[in-house]
Amino acid sequence: MKTVDLIRKKRDGGTLSREEIEQFVGGYVRGEIPDYQISALLMAIFFRGMDDEETATLTDVMAHSGTLLDLSNVSGFPVDKHSTGGVGDKTTLVLIPLLAAAGLVVAKLSGRALGHTGGTIDKLESIPGFRTDLSRAEFLRLVRRSGLALADHTADMVPADRLLYELRDVTSTVDSLPLIVASIMSKKIAGGAKGIVLDVKTGSGAFLPRLEDSRRLARSLVSIGTRLGRKTSAFITDMSQPLGNRVGNALEVREAIETLQGRGPQDLETLCCELGAELLLFAGKATDRAGAVSSLRRLLHDDRALHKFQEMVQNQGGNPAVVDDPSLLPTAEKAIRLEAPHSGTVARVDALPVGRAANLLGAGRFVKEDRIDKAVGVELVRKVGDRVTRGEPLAFLHANDETNLSQAMALVEGAYTVGDRPVTPPVLIVERIAATSSGR
Ligand code: URA
Repeated sequence: MKTVDLIRKKRDGGTLSREEIEQFVGGYVRGEIPDYQISALLMAIFFRGMDDEETATLTDVMAHSGTLLDLSNVSGFPVDKHSTGGVGDKTTLVLIPLLAAAGLVVAKLSGRALGHTGGTIDKLESIPGFRTDLSRAEFLRLVRRSGLALADHTADMVPADRLLYELRDVTSTVDSLPLIVASIMSKKIAGGAKGIVLDVKTGSGAFLPRLEDSRRLARSLVSIGTRLGRKTSAFITDMSQPLGNRVGNALEVREAIETLQGRGPQDLETLCCELGAELLLFAGKATDRAGAVSSLRRLLHDDRALHKFQEMVQNQGGNPAVVDDPSLLPTAEKAIRLEAPHSGTVARVDALPVGRAANLLGAGRFVKEDRIDKAVGVELVRKVGDRVTRGEPLAFLHANDETNLSQAMALVEGAYTVGDRPVTPPVLIVERIAATSSGR
């Protein structure tokens, strides 16, 4: 079939076959189909959607558009976790050594920050010497040796996603459910995991702020993962306020280390243990959720997960002494205090302006080419439900220059509401979405 016929078929509400999907994905990756035709097809998909079968096929075909990570020579159950991205979301930094300490295999391919949410690679690179540009052979050797490694996505993996995403970005077709699902899941499938847990954020700091959108995405991700033979489940979790207390690369690494020492913020510890429990159950390393959660909590409190983190840092060229001496991490020149204007209870710490403030200070990228300042960010001293007295700090802004400081300060100030009434903090885990018994 000619590409123009594929476009027409989708435009008129038809269902694309595997052969047709292979034709357009393969043709585009090989440079045989021009951008304008794929743009039209993406817009047709945006308006007409794709059913589950088509989305699963698109995911599978995209996953196979490049080299797959071959974990067949690694013994153990390979797992992966994906977050749709949030402010202060350093879950991966804690979860991967925790899972490795629990005996699972974690071959984690990750990305960099773009927009108001951070990227795991940027965070880890704030550890002096830490390398994420590992060759395939080196990456697999570390996974075999230590049960975990984390590297940047390489260009030869899922090239279809990179090319299609760039086109979606400039044709206003990013926010199409089947395209988002295929984009996320193709990378997970290519990464070789047998068990996948997805953390779909909801609330102002999330990629999809509205609960019903997060729910639709979570259900579709689980359905497609399951169809493609992976044990998959999802959590919808709160991102109305930032996760944990620190936002910004080195600040988040510090908080992750504290969490691995069993003295991190409760929301972060709980989320890591709940997500991890799901994977322990998938791997058959636990028989019930409560038991899985408590065994993970033990690993956080007896330093076994911390030692795995240290091993990963050492394996990848980083200075393992940061674990005992966080002052070896980049530190900003100034910490500017934001004070409570009056006494009361914190009713709101809006995640989005906090994320934007951290970006303005230099913690994130507005465009791909921007350089990041690893030291800067926002430290939240009070979160929703906390009491505060007038003049006490609500937050600190860690900054290295004055350029955007007053704007960032205004954003964090505006993110807070301090009221007179007691406030219950938002529920962290809003919903768990498992594969249905039919496997769909
Ligand atoms: N994250 C991805 O990886 N892909 C999308 O399309 C959207 C979010």
